[in-house]
Amino acid sequence: MSLLPILRYPDPRLHRVALPVAAVDERIRRLVDDMLETMYASDGVGLAATQVDVHERVIVLDTSDTRDRPRVLINPQMIASSDEMVLGDEGCLSVPQIYDKVPRHARVTVSALGRDGNPFELEAEGLESICVQHEMDHLVGKVFVEYLSPLKRERIKTKMLKKSREEQQEQASRGVRAL
Ligand code: NI
Repeated sequence: MSLLPILRYPDPRLHRVALPVAAVDERIRRLVDDMLETMYASDGVGLAATQVDVHERVIVLDTSDTRDRPRVLINPQMIASSDEMVLGDEGCLSVPQIYDKVPRHARVTVSALGRDGNPFELEAEGLESICVQHEMDHLVGKVFVEYLSPLKRERIKTKMLKKSREEQQEQASRGVRAL
């Protein structure tokens, strides 16, 4: 297994629309394992393939307190969602240190294939429901900041670009070359 680099907003590749996975084969299982390792190492509750620059419909998540209940959703499809909405604070591994409120369905039911290629349904509520919706948005090229006002989004974009410039300068000053 290996850690995968995570794209940072406003990288345009975060807006690509992922294609369905044609077959759950060895390549996809390796991707799933690498995504899980990357998610746990980054202390995230979910990760979409889009965020690691793979544009196929794969998401992983683990919203358990014990961090030992990985879920894998390949080709997820929303089959039901509650009328009841919730407003929770959301963050994203692609938009580090930014948190804001996004309206989401309180409960969703999703069908998907698992790591073994078998179909299953997931009924999610609470944080898991929010996470599933957030990650499925990534697969259609949508980042959570797009729910915020244009003004807020511009501020976040500026902050992210400044941060990545500072990181590049810091690396350059340490003599680390970007490859
Ligand atoms: Ni995210």
